[in-house]
Amino acid sequence: MRCLKLSTVVLGVTGGIAAYKALDIVSKLKKKNIDVHVIMTKAASKFVTPLSFQALSQNYVTIDMFAEPKRFEIRHISLAERADAFLIAPASANIIGKIANGIADDMLSTTVMATKSPVLIAPAMNTNMYENPIVQKNIAFLKSLGYYFIEPESGRLACGAIGKGKLADTESIVDLTDMLLCKKKDLKGKKVLITAGPTREDIDPVRYITNRSTGKMGYAIAKAARDRGADVILISGPVNIKAPYGVKHVNVYSAEEMYNAVLEYFDSTDILIKSAAVADYKPLNKSNIKIKKSDADLYIELTRNKDILYEIGKIKKHQIVVGFAAETNDLIENAKAKIMKKNLDYIVANDVTLKQSGFGSDNNTVKIIDKHGNITEYPNMPKEEVAHEIFNLILKNER
Ligand SMILES: Cc1cc2nc3c(=O)[nH]c(=O)nc-3n(C[C@H](O)[C@H](O)[C@H](O)COP(=O)(O)O)c2cc1C
Repeated sequence: MRCLKLSTVVLGVTGGIAAYKALDIVSKLKKKNIDVHVIMTKAASKFVTPLSFQALSQNYVTIDMFAEPKRFEIRHISLAERADAFLIAPASANIIGKIANGIADDMLSTTVMATKSPVLIAPAMNTNMYENPIVQKNIAFLKSLGYYFIEPESGRLACGAIGKGKLADTESIVDLTDMLLCKKKDLKGKKVLITAGPTREDIDPVRYITNRSTGKMGYAIAKAARDRGADVILISGPVNIKAPYGVKHVNVYSAEEMYNAVLEYFDSTDILIKSAAVADYKPLNKSNIKIKKSDADLYIELTRNKDILYEIGKIKKHQIVVGFAAETNDLIENAKAKIMKKNLDYIVANDVTLKQSGFGSDNNTVKIIDKHGNITEYPNMPKEEVAHEIFNLILKNER
């Protein structure tokens, strides 16, 4: 869920090789049902045609401030006001310099000047240009005024140089746009610690025990917390998804590593949400060499891993602790017992046998049970919405 459902993004595209990547940004924003209006600089139109942006955004593209509008409006003002978020990607050294110095001499620079919406700037340029102290001073100044930046990546640039200056990947740019679109900043000042994904318990150097967790739920929670203004630390087992941009990402492997990481950050945490599917057991003896197959059956003795939530429940002070219970039967009874035993504040219970729910699914059907036994039931919904509902409930009860 985005905090604002029907959103409008104005995307400014400037003159650089990476302008073609802005087409992918438009396409990704449109897939999220965002209304996209593109403003190109004259230089940008040398690299990519406005027609491509027009076709993808299904809106007219503006380049010339004095062009006859399709219906009467002062377009730089109307777009500036309509934008829920403003994106400039790729942003040239030139546009950064213009914004920092209050120059409004074309459609893009004038519209940015006129907007009150949050602005995200994604620079892309040759390394020497990016490292130029004037560009760096302009970026620092704009950051101090509240403009958001997404850093360029390092790599091989179009000009052949190797260094920093490649446009950040379009997925991260679109991901950060969600943060700009989220007007609710009710987690600002809160430190939120989230665990996600499975753990792996090695049997030998090539085999391990794990579970079906994909991390989708925990990553959605991390994104929701970030969008609502929290400082987020995401401790994750091995998964195939990218951490939300701007979140501190701690990779762990086994349950023991996850336990140590949670302990390291728990003291300064306000809200801990443990959505990881931590292995309850691990092989008692891990073989240092690959176990050879033989004709006989093989028995692996398992020993208990530390129960992270239980240990945390013992040392918890001011923190709100939320656990997850993935169950196949007796959902409520099991969840209530877990709250008591582990000194939790909430448990998010999901029946993993339901269709379109649980491991791997983009959706989840959950019930949230609080420490007083109150149960709030939610219909099947995308995991991003479940994530927001968890915070809605915590914050409502805190008031
Ligand atoms: C082939 C080519 C590639 C360019 N790539 C970039 C670039 O990646 N970043 C940048 O800041 N400028 C780049 N420039 C220079 C800009 O196009 C130039 O500074 C222009 O004035 C920017 O105008 P704008 O900010 O109005 O788009 C490039 C120029 C050429 C000819």
